[in-house]
Amino acid sequence: MLKVKTDIFLGDCKDILKQLPDNSIDLIITSPPYADQRKNTYGGIHPKEYVDWFLPIGKELLRVLHPNGTFILNIKEKVVNGERSTYVLELILELKKQGWLWTEEFVWHKKNCFPGKWSNRFRDAWERLLQFNKQKKFNMYQDAVKVPIGDWATGRLKNLSETDKIRDNAKNGSGFGKNVSNWVGKETVYPTNVIHLATECNNKNHSAAFPESLPEWFIKLFTQEGDTILDPFAGSGTTLMVAQKMKRNSIGIEILPEYYEMIKEEIIPVSYLLL
Ligand SMILES: C[S@@+](CC[C@H](N)C(=O)[O-])C[C@H]1O[C@@H](n2cnc3c(N)ncnc32)[C@H](O)[C@@H]1O
Repeated sequence: MLKVKTDIFLGDCKDILKQLPDNSIDLIITSPPYADQRKNTYGGIHPKEYVDWFLPIGKELLRVLHPNGTFILNIKEKVVNGERSTYVLELILELKKQGWLWTEEFVWHKKNCFPGKWSNRFRDAWERLLQFNKQKKFNMYQDAVKVPIGDWATGRLKNLSETDKIRDNAKNGSGFGKNVSNWVGKETVYPTNVIHLATECNNKNHSAAFPESLPEWFIKLFTQEGDTILDPFAGSGTTLMVAQKMKRNSIGIEILPEYYEMIKEEIIPVSYLLL
């Protein structure tokens, strides 16, 4: 029997992370403050200082993550003087120097964005979800996030050509190929790396809370029951609540007392028993 535990710490994650043992975390999923954003709520870091601010935290995250674990970083650059700032790109390069592998990038498409237009750009309706790992082999439970095959299959799979029945290698030499006939009779397929989720402005009292389905998707993909999830910028604690519902252990760190107290109130002190 295994008990599932949720821990929340108050303080700067740069310091608190030092208390966590090496290789003890299976998934880190987090959304730190973006550069200079939301100054009025929980402070912003200037884009020029962002990399230097984040790197000591990145170093601790690398230490606490299990070799088979994954780190998902939700981050977004902003437009400064009519140009997209480059701090996220610089951060990726520096994290690679720190020892991280930048294995994948998911796009979170915010499907409920209001329409909008600026003189030289349109509404930004997506955010980055950068995936970093310690090694090329990591735990990934792809079947857990399969999706319904979709309407396209009805027409496309009705009359298969001869090429559809054999593996058709991509002409661009990428090494990818497909055999269309493999999809006949399938009800579910693997998703792409674009995640279509609505933002949620519910009663969480936090201006930048994750929609619950965001951590849920990554928790399914990279962990199993009884594993341990860390959110070092816990905010309203969405990651912890979802982890708890999904019978995973979780650890959150939050620097602002009001959010820390809010999380403490919401976390159910009860542990599930896993047989
Ligand atoms: C974008 S919000 C996270 C929102 C969270 N994903 C949720 O669903 O509510 C970032 C949070 O990090 C906290 N924070 C900022 N700097 C921190 C630090 N050095 N250590 C720990 N928490 C920090 C902020 O107070 C804020 O609540």
